[in-house]
Amino acid sequence: MEINDSVALVTGGGSGIGEVIAYELARKGCSISVVDMDEASANRVAEKIIKEGGKAISTQANVVDEADTEKFIELTIDSFEKLNIVIPCAGIIRDGLFINPDKEKNKIKKKLDISKWKSVIDVNLTGSFLTIRDCSEAIFNGKWPGLIIPISSINKVGQLGQLNYSSTKVAISLFPKILIGEFMMRGIKNIRVVGLAPGYTSTALVEKMDQSILDSLIKDVCLGRLIDPKEIASLVMHCIQNEALNGTTIEITGGICHPGSIAK
Ligand SMILES: NC(=O)c1ccc[n+]([C@@H]2O[C@H](COP(=O)([O-])OP(=O)(O)OC[C@H]3O[C@@H](n4cnc5c(N)ncnc54)[C@H](O)[C@@H]3O)[C@@H](O)[C@H]2O)c1
Repeated sequence: MEINDSVALVTGGGSGIGEVIAYELARKGCSISVVDMDEASANRVAEKIIKEGGKAISTQANVVDEADTEKFIELTIDSFEKLNIVIPCAGIIRDGLFINPDKEKNKIKKKLDISKWKSVIDVNLTGSFLTIRDCSEAIFNGKWPGLIIPISSINKVGQLGQLNYSSTKVAISLFPKILIGEFMMRGIKNIRVVGLAPGYTSTALVEKMDQSILDSLIKDVCLGRLIDPKEIASLVMHCIQNEALNGTTIEITGGICHPGSIAK
C-alpha cells in the first residue's frame, strides 16, 4: 500500500508511540486523524502536523465508548473521504500484584484492585476491539485498501505485576490471526492485519514506571536502552509497504531476554 495520499487513524495519538507514528506518517504524505482522551494533546499533535505542512484533524474521544468510536470514524471519513490505516495505540498500565501477603502476619494484606483490572481490560482490550471492529466495517464498506495494526506488547508472554496488562496484550496478539481467518472465510480481501509487540519504549507510559524496576528490566535487553518510538514508526512504514505481511504479530524489542539470557 502507498503511504502517500493514504488516511491513517491513530488512537492514543496525543502521546508516545502513537504521537511519533502520526508525525512520521504525516511527513510521508499521509493524512492523520489523531484521537485521544486528552483533548489538548490530540489538538497539539494535529496542529504540529498542519504547521509542518501536513493534513490532520483531532478528536477528543474515549476508545471504550461505542458512540465516541462511531463519531471519530465518521469525522475522519467526512474530513478525508476515506480511511486506510488504523493504529489503535490508546493504552494504559495499572500494575499490581495479584495477592500480596504481609510477611509478619502471614496473611494477605493487599489484592489486585478490581478497578485496576477493569480499567486496563476496558481501554487496552475493549477499546482496541471497538476501534478495529468499526474501522474494519468502514474500510470494507468503502472498498478502500486497508491495514489494521493492533498494538500488543512483549509482555504478552507474561510479566509479573501485570496480570491485567499481559492478559490484554496476549489477547491483542491473537487479533491478526483470528481476523485474517475470518476475513478469508467471508471473502474480505481489502484489509490486512499486522500486529506489533514492542519492548520497552521511551514514552510517558514507561516514565510512569518505578525507575529502579525499569533499570533492572533494561539490563535484560541486548540493545541496552529503551526503544525509540521512531524505530516503531519505521516498522509501521514497512508494514504498510510490504503486502506480504499479514495475519501476524511482529515483536520489536531490541532483543529482550529473561535473566540468564533466555529470549523472552
Ligand atoms: N511504551 C512502551 O514501552 C510500550 C511497550 C509495548 C507496548 N506499548 C503499547 O503501546 C501503546 C501506546 O503506549 P505509549 O507508551 O505510547 O503510552 P502513552 O501513555 O505515551 O500514550 C497513550 C495515549 O493513550 C491515551 N489514552 C489512554 N486511555 C485512553 C482512552 N480510554 N481513550 C482514548 N485515548 C486514551 C492517553 O491519553 C495517551 O495520550 C499502548 O497500547 C501500550 O500498551 C507500549
